[in-house]
Amino acid sequence: MSSLSPAFRTAYAEQRASEGRSYRGDDLLALPYLRRGPTARQWRVRARTFDAFLKHVVMPEAERTPAPLAIADLGAGNGWLSHRLARLGHRAVAVDVREDAVDGLGAAEHFLAQGSDFERVRASFDELPFAANAFDIAVFNASLHYAVDLKSVLAEAARVVRPWGVIAVLDSPFYDSDKDGAAMVAEKQAGAAVQFGERAGVLLSVQFVEYLTAERLAIASDGLSWRRRRVGYPLWYELRPLMARLNGRRRPSRFDLWVAVVR
Ligand SMILES: C[S@@+](CC[C@H](N)C(=O)[O-])C[C@H]1O[C@@H](n2cnc3c(N)ncnc32)[C@H](O)[C@@H]1O
Repeated sequence: MSSLSPAFRTAYAEQRASEGRSYRGDDLLALPYLRRGPTARQWRVRARTFDAFLKHVVMPEAERTPAPLAIADLGAGNGWLSHRLARLGHRAVAVDVREDAVDGLGAAEHFLAQGSDFERVRASFDELPFAANAFDIAVFNASLHYAVDLKSVLAEAARVVRPWGVIAVLDSPFYDSDKDGAAMVAEKQAGAAVQFGERAGVLLSVQFVEYLTAERLAIASDGLSWRRRRVGYPLWYELRPLMARLNGRRRPSRFDLWVAVVR
């Protein structure tokens, strides 16, 4: 099991709270269409990926499968995506290593109190407590870059998804080149003391993959072939590469929707 120690989980939750990511009440229910607060701008981007996921993955799968879809939400955090899927009538299972009420599975309580119906399972996505072929879809929603061993995490997702089911990756940073990804990681490490304060040591102690490239994904994928569906993001997001070039900075990442069919 991915070794996210209690110290890491605590520091991570504290950091998320300090960044204004502990949503409550109407703000939690609004995700990913949150229109106020310090993170609203990011959610305008994330909402686009979610809409693309519904349109290009969930709806086509639902047309092919008469019963409600079984969907594993891997790295679910507060479970907002599971909540949205449950509201559409699907059987969602929110999986995360954290149970805290900041933005771990404990924060999903509010959805469930509102009558939302999805399961919560505390587990690591590299060792899932599910039978083979248990799901129609596995989705990594802003979470695949937290894999430590990308190959085993993807193999585990492929194991629990039935043949011809789908693995989808939403909102993980993808770079065109490893050079830019490595530069981002170096910047993160160099700025950690300022960004994370005394939590820096713990938060940097786990070797997550941190970013993806098409090549990284392909190399880590046995028998999965990935297709990127380019998402139309707000103009300011689409202009980031141009602004970076004008300012002499490295190329930024972008999210998009990445999809593989399990065979
Ligand atoms: C950036 S958050 C995204 C949360 C949520 N999916 C969202 O979109 O708001 C990444 C999540 O991945 C979880 N995570 C990290 N490593 C994990 C692992 N090995 N297994 C399961 N979840 C993990 C973290 O606890 C965190 O909740």
